[in-house]
Amino acid sequence: MSTSRRQFIKQSAVFAIPIIIPAAARGADGNVAPSNRMVVGAVGWGMQGPGNTTSTMGLDNAKVVAVCDLDKNHLAAAKGKVDEFYKNTDCAAYSDYLELMARKDIDAVTLAVPDHWHALVATAAAKAGKHIWGEKPLARTIAEQQAIVKAVQDNKVIWQTGSWQRSVDNFTKAVELVRGGYIGEIKEVQVGLPAGHHDFAGTKDKNTVTAPPAQLDYDKWVGPSTMVDYIEARVHKNWRWHYNFGGGQLLDWVGHHVDIAHWGMNMDNGGPSEVECAGELPDANAMWNTCTKYRGELKYPKGIKMTIAGGHPDIAMGTKWIGSEGWVYVNRGAFDASNADWKRFRVLPDNMRKAEIYRSGNHFKNWIDCALAGKPTITPVETAHHSAIPGHLCLISMLSRSKVQWDAAKQEIIGNPEAAKFLTRAYRSPYQLG
Ligand SMILES: NC(=O)c1ccc[n+]([C@@H]2O[C@H](COP(=O)([O-])OP(=O)(O)OC[C@H]3O[C@@H](n4cnc5c(N)ncnc54)[C@H](O)[C@@H]3O)[C@@H](O)[C@H]2O)c1
Repeated sequence: MSTSRRQFIKQSAVFAIPIIIPAAARGADGNVAPSNRMVVGAVGWGMQGPGNTTSTMGLDNAKVVAVCDLDKNHLAAAKGKVDEFYKNTDCAAYSDYLELMARKDIDAVTLAVPDHWHALVATAAAKAGKHIWGEKPLARTIAEQQAIVKAVQDNKVIWQTGSWQRSVDNFTKAVELVRGGYIGEIKEVQVGLPAGHHDFAGTKDKNTVTAPPAQLDYDKWVGPSTMVDYIEARVHKNWRWHYNFGGGQLLDWVGHHVDIAHWGMNMDNGGPSEVECAGELPDANAMWNTCTKYRGELKYPKGIKMTIAGGHPDIAMGTKWIGSEGWVYVNRGAFDASNADWKRFRVLPDNMRKAEIYRSGNHFKNWIDCALAGKPTITPVETAHHSAIPGHLCLISMLSRSKVQWDAAKQEIIGNPEAAKFLTRAYRSPYQLG
C-alpha cells in the first residue's frame, strides 16, 4: 500500500468516511487487486497465532507476508505454514517484532503473544501505523490497557479484538433480544467463567528449574516482567497461570463472557462503580499461582448488579441477563431464555429487531474490511478496554483484600491507595511502557 493510500485511510478513519471498494476494482481473474488488499504480518505463533493467521490467509483481501516469534521452532513452523498456504517460500521470518513493524509494505498485524507482552507489541504496532488484531484481555494491567487505547487513537489505526463471540449468531441474537428490551429492564447479570488451571501445553509435570532450551530467547520472552527461573510448565501456553505473565482464568475469559455481558448492557464505554471479589489464591510462590476459584460482585449504573464467578455452580458458564420481564442466557453453542419462542430461530427475524446492533458474521473479515474502509470494527480497542476492566478490578479487589470503588469516567480507583497500586506494574529494565 502506498503512503498516500495509507494516509487516505487514516484520514478517512478520522472523518469516518467509508471507502467502498467497487467490484470493478477487483482483478479480472476474481482475485482482489493488490491495492485493495491488506498486507499482514503475524506476531506470536503458539496456541492462538496459527488459527488467527490461517483465518486471515483465507480472506481474499488479505495476504500474510511475514511472521515473528521468539522461539525458533515456533518461527519455523509459522513460516512453513504460510509458505505452504501460498505455495512459495516468500514468507519473511523475524525474531524481533520491531523489524517486522519497520516494514513499510506491511499494513496490518495480528498479535498473539502472552499477556505480559501485549502493551509493548501493540503500542509499537500502532506507532508504526499498522492496523491491529489484538488478543483479549487487552493487557495485563489497566495502565497498560490505557497506553494501548491511547496509541491506537493517536495513530488512528483500526483495531479488532479477538473477542470473536461477537461475530457468532447465538451471541448476536442474545444481545439483540436484551438490547431490544424483550426482558424488560436489566436487573442482574451473571457471568460464569472457568475455574482452576488447565494444562494447555501438557507441561504440568515439567515443573523444575532447568536451563532454557536453545531455541527460545527466554530473557526476551520474560520481557518487561520480573525475571524468574525458567520452568517449562509456566512458559508456552501455561504462562497464564502465573501472575508474572497472565491473570488466570478470570483474565483469560473476561474478554469473552464479560465482553458479551457489556454488549447486552450497552456498556461498551462504561463500567462498574463498585467491585468486591473473593477467591482462593494458591501460595504466591506456587508454580501456578493464579486464583483457582473466585466470585466478584459488581455494581453498575441504574442499580444493575453483576456477578462474575469461576468455580461456583450457581453461576453457569456464559452470560445471563435477568430483567424485570424475563431472562436470556448464552454460551458457546448454547442459548436459553424465559420465552420458548426466542429459542426457535438462529438469527433474530427482522420484524423483531428493535435495537440496531452491529452485526458481523466473520470476525477476521470484519477486521480486514474495516481496515480497508477506515471504519470501526465490531470490537474496537475502547470496547476491549472496558470489557476487561471488570476482570482487572476483581483481581485488584482480591489481591488488595478490599472493596474497590471505581470512577468509570475518570478510570480511577477512589480513596484506596493500596488497591490503586495494582493498576500498574514495574517494568524490568530496559523495557519501558510509553
Ligand atoms: N481469542 C481467543 O479465543 C484466544 C484463545 C487463546 C489465546 N488467546 C490469546 O492469545 C494470546 C496468546 O496466547 P497463546 O495461548 O497463543 O500463547 P502461547 O504461549 O501459546 O503463544 C505465544 C507465542 O508468542 C511468542 N512470543 C512471546 N513473546 C514474544 C515477543 N515479544 N515477540 C514475538 N513472539 C513472542 C511465544 O514464543 C509463543 O510462541 C494471549 O493474549 C491469549 O489470551 C486468545
